[in-house]
Amino acid sequence: MMLRKKLYEGKAKVIYRGKEPNTLIQYFKDDATAFNNKKKAVIPGKGVINNFISELLMTRLNDINIPNHFIKRLNMREQLIHKLEIIPIEVVIRNIATGSIVKRLGIEEGKVLPRPIIEFYLKDDKLNDPIVSEEHIIVFEWATHSELEEIISLSARINDFLTGYFYSQKIRLVDFKIEFGRFWSGQDNSIMLADEISPDNCRLWDILTNKKLDKDRFRQDLGEVDIAYKEVAYRLGVLSEKEFKKVLKNDF
Ligand code: TMP
Repeated sequence: MMLRKKLYEGKAKVIYRGKEPNTLIQYFKDDATAFNNKKKAVIPGKGVINNFISELLMTRLNDINIPNHFIKRLNMREQLIHKLEIIPIEVVIRNIATGSIVKRLGIEEGKVLPRPIIEFYLKDDKLNDPIVSEEHIIVFEWATHSELEEIISLSARINDFLTGYFYSQKIRLVDFKIEFGRFWSGQDNSIMLADEISPDNCRLWDILTNKKLDKDRFRQDLGEVDIAYKEVAYRLGVLSEKEFKKVLKNDF
């Protein structure tokens, strides 16, 4: 591997400086964490699968004019992305009640929500990513009012698109988490979708059986985490069975 500058290492990805100005390289690790790093494991092949799934979904979102940081996939584990100034807010969109909303508000598990709900969490591990309101975001200047409006509007479009896209592969998009950043050009900036979209940050249930095909298999010790991620990849058609077997034989 060529020598290059590591800028940041997160729980699931490493960010390196890109060759061209204002670009970065996003490297997908096999590491999985849950409950703010309290639970850790390595899921063999996860990074490769998430790289390919995120490439596909970011490309499709770009096709419908959802601006995002993805430029191109470089290899099995890396993609070239635009450098953004990350807005320190995790945006969660929920279509079905499960996870923290069930615990926090006592909503019935599995309830189909009358309409999608958007929530915001402050990206701060030390504070355990607390839920915050739109007021907090604006008053504490994590984003401006107009940036937040753009984030809400883009999130609704992303949810509508991804819900249909997964549905066509017999997968229910239960909820997901996304992040946004500012893309600067000269004095101006615009909001772009950042990070990744993969079974690490989506809840994906099989339409017929409700089988979980996402990171909840790791969070809840349900087993066969890697197989579930591969199943999503197969269903989305990003890798054929043959390609996958080849990938898994090599040391990736
Ligand atoms: P939650 O129900 O635990 O709040 O999770 C909502 C969605 O956000 C779910 O799809 C998992 C995703 N998520 C992340 O991607 N990262 C996180 O740190 C957390 C807590 C949730």
